[in-house]
Amino acid sequence: MIEAKNGTCAVVIVAAGSGERLGHGMPKAKVPLGGEPMLAHAVRGVVQAGVAGHIVIAVPAGDDELRELCQILAAEVGEDTGLAWSVVDGGADRSASVRAALEMLGDAVTTVLIHDAARPLAPSGVFDRVTAALRDGAKAVIPALAVVDTIKTVVPAGLPNTGAGVERVSGTPARNRLRAVQTPQGFELATLRKAHAHAATLDAAAAAEITDDAMLVEAIGEDVYVVQGSTHSLKITTPTDLLLAEAMLAGPLRPRWVEG
Ligand code: C5P
Repeated sequence: MIEAKNGTCAVVIVAAGSGERLGHGMPKAKVPLGGEPMLAHAVRGVVQAGVAGHIVIAVPAGDDELRELCQILAAEVGEDTGLAWSVVDGGADRSASVRAALEMLGDAVTTVLIHDAARPLAPSGVFDRVTAALRDGAKAVIPALAVVDTIKTVVPAGLPNTGAGVERVSGTPARNRLRAVQTPQGFELATLRKAHAHAATLDAAAAAEITDDAMLVEAIGEDVYVVQGSTHSLKITTPTDLLLAEAMLAGPLRPRWVEG
């Protein structure tokens, strides 16, 4: 039985996406990984990390199957750990799902980690690094990895002779300053609430451009700190990602992955 370490820290797991890019015709959180729904792995990973006293899971509105799965997982952990559980209906976009989950948090909670169910294999080491940075005074902290590809910015363009619609490079940021950002992202709760209050006023087009919570905190002028992420925290978006995650879970690749 795992003991909840910190009643003032909550973890939100957002699992209310449609998962269309994975092509399984079901919400991504339900897609099987190692014979179990992806959400089960994500939730167990959060429980094992042992950083939080309250877990809030956002599921697609009206999805009774995922709600039932959450109940089963809560029962698996047991009631005597003091770990509080809530399940909420997610919103139309990721930020709306986060906001719905934040509403469940009580006054005792001072810090919150926001984690994508789509990163079901994020290791405990990442949760530890994020919470350690929060303890050391960061109001916002994200795990990230250096990028290996050269990244370009592009604009829509037509080819010179035909006008055929393609894209044209508009810039090449220095690769050594770029980071690929993951979850769990950690925040002082008051700071994240302030950032989301601002986000709630955005129109649908602007809201669709919000891809993580740190963006919102940057927008209100707070410093966002970066700690080391993990290759295990890969975001499962395409069938190729799912293959890789299956291989990681099955074991043969494990010895070659040295990060925590
Ligand atoms: O769509 P994307 O892969 O960027 O989603 C990242 C995470 O946000 C996923 O875990 C997904 O379930 C969640 N999400 C959500 N509510 C939405 C859209 C996405 O909880 N409306």
